[in-house]
Amino acid sequence: MKNESLVSISDFTKEEMLELLDDMRYFEANPNRNLLQGKVAATLFFEPSTRTRLSFETAVNRLGGKVIGFSDAATTSSSKGETLKDTIMMVNNYVDLIIMRHHLEGAARYASEVSRVPIINAGDGANQHPSQTMLDLYSIYKTQGRLDNLTITMVGDLKYGRTVHSLIMAMHYFNPTFNFVAADELQMPEQYKEFCREHGISFNETADFSADVINRSDIIYMTRVQRERFTDLMEYEKVKNLYNLHNSMLDGSKDNLRILHPLPRVNEISTDVDDNPKAYYFQQAQNGLYARQAIICKVLGIKLNKEE
Ligand code: CP
Repeated sequence: MKNESLVSISDFTKEEMLELLDDMRYFEANPNRNLLQGKVAATLFFEPSTRTRLSFETAVNRLGGKVIGFSDAATTSSSKGETLKDTIMMVNNYVDLIIMRHHLEGAARYASEVSRVPIINAGDGANQHPSQTMLDLYSIYKTQGRLDNLTITMVGDLKYGRTVHSLIMAMHYFNPTFNFVAADELQMPEQYKEFCREHGISFNETADFSADVINRSDIIYMTRVQRERFTDLMEYEKVKNLYNLHNSMLDGSKDNLRILHPLPRVNEISTDVDDNPKAYYFQQAQNGLYARQAIICKVLGIKLNKEE
């Protein structure tokens, strides 16, 4: 990492990501470690969240630290017009670490530039969600036994989906093949396709979530079409239910296939998939706890003594 904040997944080198995966394994086996005694973290959530906020807060609690923060910016002085800079400057007076989700792309970068304490980006608009990416990598590694040479199919809102954007950047070290399945309106942005070309990553684009695509996949990464990212709700209505994964669609899939989804889901995965052993999205969310414990220790410079 170039500095102590985590703004983008590209802040980590490949070696740092692999070390973090090892740390996550450690925390999965040892979730309660008193490594944050005397430290306070702030969770500043300007956008709704269930998993990210609660798993970060659980991570701090299980590490022996304390948490302050808000889950609804309407209850804070930002609703009176306080700027993000002033909010960050104030919270700096109280805590050792800030974990922030914001609707504006670049908000985490800006916060990291004005903050005296490390910032962890818990999602900034359609841009990046690096802690999600670390739990996704861990989930892929745990289910496939490797990260290299996998075929990963991303489905749904690839335009605004920050989780798929971050995952592409992380996976570029591991020679993936991507299938991008999306409606014309929600295709993968050009900058990420250009990133793939620059790094020699092969990708296919299609609007057809066909049996052929499913049966070639090691990972299917479903995403929600995010109503909150659309300025024109007519556009949202047109595309919101285009892709729905049903259990019968997995009949010819590979044995090692696992279905991931950052959650929350709306209609894109039928509940009849939930009992299929290839469904991994609930365990994926559980892995978020270990990912966030590892990331918090990393940004605070806390070394793990794994021999203890
Ligand atoms: N995956 C994820 O970011 O979920 P939340 O929006 O519930 O935090």
